[in-house]
Amino acid sequence: MKPSLIVHGGAWNIPDEAIDACKSGCERALRRGWSILSRGGHALDAIEATVMVLEDDPAFDAGYGSHLNLDGRVECDAMVMNGATLRAGAASTLERVKNPIRVARAILEKCPHMMVVGEGAERFAKEQGIALCDPEDLISEAEREAWLKCKNDKHAAEHHRGHEQGTVGAVALDKEGNLFAATSTGGTCCKLPGRVGDSPLIGCGCYADSEAGGVSCTGYGEAIMKIVMAKAAVDFLRQSEICVDSSARTSCDVTTAKVAAREAVHLLAKRTHGHGGLILLDRHGNPGFAFNTPRMAYGYVALDGNFVTAV
Ligand code: GLY
Repeated sequence: MKPSLIVHGGAWNIPDEAIDACKSGCERALRRGWSILSRGGHALDAIEATVMVLEDDPAFDAGYGSHLNLDGRVECDAMVMNGATLRAGAASTLERVKNPIRVARAILEKCPHMMVVGEGAERFAKEQGIALCDPEDLISEAEREAWLKCKNDKHAAEHHRGHEQGTVGAVALDKEGNLFAATSTGGTCCKLPGRVGDSPLIGCGCYADSEAGGVSCTGYGEAIMKIVMAKAAVDFLRQSEICVDSSARTSCDVTTAKVAAREAVHLLAKRTHGHGGLILLDRHGNPGFAFNTPRMAYGYVALDGNFVTAV
């Protein structure tokens, strides 16, 4: 099977001056993941490495450079899901972890549960050899400035950089057919401490089923949760699967992936009037994406092996 990889760095009103940083961040992440997949590596290793690049990049709302909550602290959520087993690893409200996707992976692989939050998740991470950091190490100067402005102006939304968006995610398929989807976020700016968005909720911000495809969402979590958007997109993929040859990546498969992505975002707009976007790979590795925000940062490896990135 031909490997495939798609990434996103959030759907929101990305300003002109942030376009280059978002595009190059997506490309770096894509290159990192592809260096694993193209050499026959496992999709789980590729997706973890891909998301870590995005988490380390302050252009995005995940890991270092996440939005601050009302108290001026970073609280991160992340999830990864295995399409073959339908098992997920999800962690929420992490305050002392540089790369939340590593905790999500540890939960997926080594924990009897599928979702662990807060101090318990941090304790589990430490037991698994993931070093805890000082919460201050996750705060970028730009986000601290945005938070200070908000605080002095009763948290008016116009001060936020990507008030509700900037989440990152990826979907990876390896040559053995292993399919994984992952999402990581710092959540919304000035959220109430303890708020959990769509990203770590199975089926909302992330879902993978090897019988249909894998999805990672971005956007306003409170709307995405209402329609369980990632699972909705996978269901659209399943319904519109029109190719009988499962080994082929044909033009009708490509259409299926695009249509499923569009249908899910259409549902988000129609039923919630919310804004957001998603990326997906169908079970053959065909990429699809859609968003109803002014812009979304994304990238994928095209069938000819070229890297496509756009904002
Ligand atoms: N989509 C990210 C969040 O709402 O937390």
